[in-house]
Amino acid sequence: MKAVKWEEYATKHPHFVCEDTVPKLLEELLKYLNKLNKPFSIIDLGCGDETTLYALHNRGLLENASKVVGVDISKERIKRMKTFCPFAKGIIGDVCNLKQIPDNSFGEIISKPSNRAFRFDIVEHEFSRLVTEGRST
Ligand SMILES: C[S@@+](CC[C@H](N)C(=O)[O-])C[C@H]1O[C@@H](n2cnc3c(N)ncnc32)[C@H](O)[C@@H]1O
Repeated sequence: MKAVKWEEYATKHPHFVCEDTVPKLLEELLKYLNKLNKPFSIIDLGCGDETTLYALHNRGLLENASKVVGVDISKERIKRMKTFCPFAKGIIGDVCNLKQIPDNSFGEIISKPSNRAFRFDIVEHEFSRLVTEGRST
């Protein structure tokens, strides 16, 4: 779908924001990171209205997060994301090309798109560019 279609879709269909949208594996990873008692950084690619970071934050799982960022191609979604997640930075951008974010900027990447959004085989290179091998703060 082109950016303009995502914008049209975002305007008509807000995401359902609640606290039950955290996959078990992600929950366990963040519990582990918080226990390390060291700051960590996290970026959500194709974040939508930001149901995931909202849920993580409300469960205290971002307690030690020093940098929290959501990226979405839709301006409307990022606007809503900022109301739910004032603690996070919102970036309007295409995950296939995030030139504005330097290499190795994040320790953790999360992404829960639909299969109509973007294909992992296409964005894989960009995703690995953003994440550092040692965990970045
Ligand atoms: C199904 S929604 C999932 C939203 C969120 N991750 C969640 O789990 O609720 C897919 C999102 O991907 C965004 N999207 C689609 N193509 C994109 C792209 N190339 N770059 C960034 N975001 C994109 C859409 O605007 C939409 O918000």
